[in-house]
Amino acid sequence: MQIASKILCLQALIFITVLNVFHNKSELSHHLNSLKVKGKTLGFVPTMGALHEGHLALVKKGLSDNDYVITSIFVNPTQFDNEQDLVKYPRTLESDVALLKTVNETKIMVYAPTIEDIYNHNVQSERFNFDGLENEMEGAFRTGHFNGVGTIVKRLFEIVKPHRAYFGEKDFQQLQIIKKLVALYDIPVEVIGCAIHRASDGLAMSSRNTRLTKEHRKAAPFIYKTLKSAKIKFGTKSAKYVTEWVEKQFKKQPLLELEYFIIADTETLKPLKRKSTKKTYRAFIAAYAGDIRLIDNIALN
Ligand code: PAF
Repeated sequence: MQIASKILCLQALIFITVLNVFHNKSELSHHLNSLKVKGKTLGFVPTMGALHEGHLALVKKGLSDNDYVITSIFVNPTQFDNEQDLVKYPRTLESDVALLKTVNETKIMVYAPTIEDIYNHNVQSERFNFDGLENEMEGAFRTGHFNGVGTIVKRLFEIVKPHRAYFGEKDFQQLQIIKKLVALYDIPVEVIGCAIHRASDGLAMSSRNTRLTKEHRKAAPFIYKTLKSAKIKFGTKSAKYVTEWVEKQFKKQPLLELEYFIIADTETLKPLKRKSTKKTYRAFIAAYAGDIRLIDNIALN
């Protein structure tokens, strides 16, 4: 190994030791228990890594509400319905740890487990019934996805036992499902949803954005632009009208392929049939930019 790369490895090792990175749940639990007996509060930000400003905003919110924040970095195999997506998902532990270090060196811990540490030798999802939330939108298009998410988040909550946990609203359906998981299993954690973090051109931040080609990256802000126009139209038009309008806009955009546009009830996530002034609604989009699947959503009222 050349001297320069040896130095880089050494630097990476130093990052990892300074910031308290755990790869093993018993060492992690031991450390967290020592903080909890001192009365310290713990915020938790579960991630699949490839951290960006959106994740850092969750970590910062966690730090402002708690004494310490633990971030898990684990690309969870059971929530992928597409083998290629799992294989290509970015894995950037060293730079993730370095990024977290820029936020705070002493109050952030990382749990980056191996697959065995989480699943032992049985890499399988539990089956959940989230009162039908799991069958809408992402659930309909990604078979088994929310069983995978439910399995990993429940396991992580059991290991970390945080006081509060932070999730971005970009995955709004996931957020509602995790609130349901916590209620169903009586898990003593406060689930906090945080606003979507966007690039200056409006694209919702996502670890998948790093895999977009230059052309697709340039086209992708169209998703949020369309959501914003849909919101304005929803003020005076029906859900059917707005949906057809959005579908027409995407047909004119050759670089993006719309998978779904759905206006849904915020609580049940069921598609809106008739507007009620007593309910709140959100519009949800999933679209492909090449082979990268992007999702976004917006509150409508
Ligand atoms: O939102 C994510 O990054 C993942 O779905 C989560 C919550 C970390 C579970 O793997």
